[in-house]
Amino acid sequence: MAIHGGASCRLAAVCLLLLELALQGGAGAAEPLVPAMFVFGDSIVDVGNNNFIEKCEVDCKAYYPHYGVDYLDHAPTGRFSNGYNLADKLAQELGFAESPPPFLSLSNASQWMSTGINFASGGSGLLPKTGNGPVMCKQVLSMADQVGDFTNLARLWASGDNRLADLLSKSLFFISAGSNDLFEYIDIGPQTNDTELLQSLVASYAAYLRDLYGVGARKFSVVSTSLVGCCPSQRFIAHNPQDPKATDKYGCLAALNNLSSQLYPMFATMLQDLSGELPGMNYSLVDSIKMSEWVLENPSTPSYNFTVLDTACCGEGQFGASGCNFSAPLCPSRSNHLFWDKYHPTEAVSQIAAKIIFGGNGTFVHPVNVQQLVASAASRP
Ligand SMILES: *[C@@H]1O[C@H](CO)[C@@H](O)[C@H](O)[C@H]1NC(C)=O
Ligand SMILES: *[C@@H]1O[C@H](CO)[C@@H](O)[C@H](O)[C@H]1NC(C)=O
Ligand SMILES: *[C@@H]1O[C@H](CO)[C@@H](O)[C@H](O)[C@H]1NC(C)=O
Ligand SMILES: *[C@@H]1O[C@H](CO)[C@@H](O)[C@H](O)[C@H]1NC(C)=O
Ligand SMILES: *[C@@H]1O[C@H](CO)[C@@H](O)[C@H](O)[C@H]1NC(C)=O
Ligand SMILES: *[C@@H]1O[C@H](CO)[C@@H](O)[C@H](O)[C@H]1NC(C)=O
Ligand SMILES: *[C@@H]1O[C@H](CO)[C@@H](O)[C@H](O)[C@H]1NC(C)=O
Repeated sequence: MAIHGGASCRLAAVCLLLLELALQGGAGAAEPLVPAMFVFGDSIVDVGNNNFIEKCEVDCKAYYPHYGVDYLDHAPTGRFSNGYNLADKLAQELGFAESPPPFLSLSNASQWMSTGINFASGGSGLLPKTGNGPVMCKQVLSMADQVGDFTNLARLWASGDNRLADLLSKSLFFISAGSNDLFEYIDIGPQTNDTELLQSLVASYAAYLRDLYGVGARKFSVVSTSLVGCCPSQRFIAHNPQDPKATDKYGCLAALNNLSSQLYPMFATMLQDLSGELPGMNYSLVDSIKMSEWVLENPSTPSYNFTVLDTACCGEGQFGASGCNFSAPLCPSRSNHLFWDKYHPTEAVSQIAAKIIFGGNGTFVHPVNVQQLVASAASRP
């Protein structure tokens, strides 16, 4: 009796487990396409790291309403979005529920290495000083900090264990960085010349990628800087009646869009050179300039309709550029706005961008898209 009882108990447990697995499968939650996703960069992909940085200014945190108004339970989580952001949306394309958790929220980060960690910090840039000085934020995790935190963890975690090294080589390293360096350069006024700035950004980027490769990363998805001169804060600067600046055909701050446009081919060359040099390194680079031009020129398609292209949903005044918080006015429909606040896109835009990064064609992603990148055989470190 006791033996039977024990057996049926175990059987019941197995059945429950199978049922749970079946339910997970039935809900469309198939096995993710990569074991883990690691995220680096700025506020486009930060999911709450800045909340944990005490000295980081409140403008560079997003833990208060109306942030998160369309997220689960309307919770402001630190995402600079009305809902999910680009890291979440790409994670969803890969089969995860959302972005991996913010690094600074984890008490034992090594337990998360097998499924992924998000190191991104709003306001950060490729240069260590970006976001860490008087211009913006005061204190953030620079790319150097983020990459250092990851490489320290990876060295401890995967050292001597081939299965863990193999897992890292199959994982996706998703990076969105560079915009804040451009904002700061334009805001402070040039301290170097344009060429020198852009070359230093590319050199820093290459060094971070080498560091990540050095501890076993092989598959990189890189988001180039977009038409950042089109965000409401920069349109506001360009159209200041006291001090108007040159604008481009979209009515955006021309100098900033010009710099950002020059950066894309430099990123492309750097990545191509690096993958030629580092055996087994593969990457997918999205041309965010082309992507934003495409959306600006095709705001209405069978899958979406953007009617407000220049003004923030959360914020007031010209272009809604005053800043987003609990007392700022909120637009009723987020899905027809390109911009959520004065710097950041709506969830609807992140959704489109993630679809292009994951499955886009050669107009937007080079040399392959992320779907092809993660399907390619990983070469062991
Ligand atoms: C952290 O997690 C690892 C497993 O990844 C474990 O070996 C280690 O003991 C944990 N450390 C602490 C302090 O809990
Ligand atoms: C920019 O600065 C670099 C180094 O200081 C210098 O070699 C180069 O000639 C400068 N370019 C222009 C266009 O001034
Ligand atoms: C940037 O502006 C310069 C002139 O100021 C122009 O020669 C160049 O073609 C522009 N580059 C891009 C990528 O728009
Ligand atoms: C990955 O990189 C190798 C060279 O390191 C190249 O031969 C291969 O075609 C690349 N695969 C993809 C899918 O880009
Ligand atoms: C967007 O508007 C067009 C007409 O301008 C319509 O054909 C299309 O179905 C709309 N798409 C969505 C998602 O509402
Ligand atoms: C909240 O936002 C409004 C409008 O953008 C601004 O005028 C106000 O100063 C902000 N309040 C706080 C406490 O930051
Ligand atoms: C890629 O997709 C865009 C948008 O659907 C389309 O306009 C473009 O022609 C396509 N490019 C290629 C190379 O297929």
